[in-house]
Amino acid sequence: MAEIQIGAQDRVFVLTGAGISAESGLPTFRAEDGLWAGYRIEDVCTPEAWQRNPAGVWAFYSARRQSAQSAQPNPAHQSLAKLESEIGDRFFLCTQNVDDLHERAGTKRLLHMHGELAKSRCERECGRPPIEDRAVYASLTEVGRCPCGGRMRPHIVFFGEMPLEMNRIQREIAKTTIMIVVGTSGSVYPAASFVQWARQSGARTVYIGPEPPLNAEAFTQIVSGKAGEVIPGLFALQGMR
Ligand SMILES: NC(=O)c1ccc[n+]([C@@H]2O[C@H](COP(=O)([O-])OP(=O)(O)OC[C@H]3O[C@@H](n4cnc5c(N)ncnc54)[C@H](O)[C@@H]3O)[C@@H](O)[C@H]2O)c1
Ligand SMILES: [Zn+2]
Repeated sequence: MAEIQIGAQDRVFVLTGAGISAESGLPTFRAEDGLWAGYRIEDVCTPEAWQRNPAGVWAFYSARRQSAQSAQPNPAHQSLAKLESEIGDRFFLCTQNVDDLHERAGTKRLLHMHGELAKSRCERECGRPPIEDRAVYASLTEVGRCPCGGRMRPHIVFFGEMPLEMNRIQREIAKTTIMIVVGTSGSVYPAASFVQWARQSGARTVYIGPEPPLNAEAFTQIVSGKAGEVIPGLFALQGMR
């Protein structure tokens, strides 16, 4: 069986995508039709969609909140949390997912580069931070407003918007010696470039998933299989007790 050797000096950067939550019952984009949970991205996940039809955007993200709340972390989320508990601050996880299955599995050093389903923020960039919000809205009239008057929107990076905390991500990638990428098609940028950045600083790069990603050639190792089946038992820690 394939193993990923992690030495006492190694620093691990994990990037996850929709595939890691697939075995928890949350749909990925379907490669052939580009739909997410039956919706066209441009209708529900762009700044234009928000301007044109905020009720439709909230209906979509309310449904995503509802399914994420009933989903449970799977063995892939759990194994990554266990790895963090063993190597501590030599571990960092960046997820493209907006669900909270990594934190519910126990991951602490975690960054949601595309936002979080369980938060909302002001649609005007008025400077107030995102707030916790797990509400499932039946209509737009239920959606609150910021003290500045702006309508609250999902704390989600829409397609065409800048991912969050890119400086911190770049600093973490520069330090990493092993990049592990799980369940992402390699089609959404800048996340699809992370593996190249890690290679430039000499890191080993491993992809885990049932099919090769679009940027497969950038990886030094491919572990083929479903995340929840192959990740448990995959890491071999060396030189540690
Ligand atoms: N759960 C979520 O939060 C969620 C779900 C769908 C989409 N999204 C958003 O949409 C974008 C999607 O891009 P993406 O690259 O993450 O997803 P994607 O849907 O483009 O690709 C999913 C990838 O997961 C792989 N996969 C499928 N089943 C798997 C399994 N059991 N184990 C491991 N891999 C598996 C597929 O082969 C595919 O390469 C992201 O930006 C994300 O924010 C989020
Ligand atoms: Zn505001």
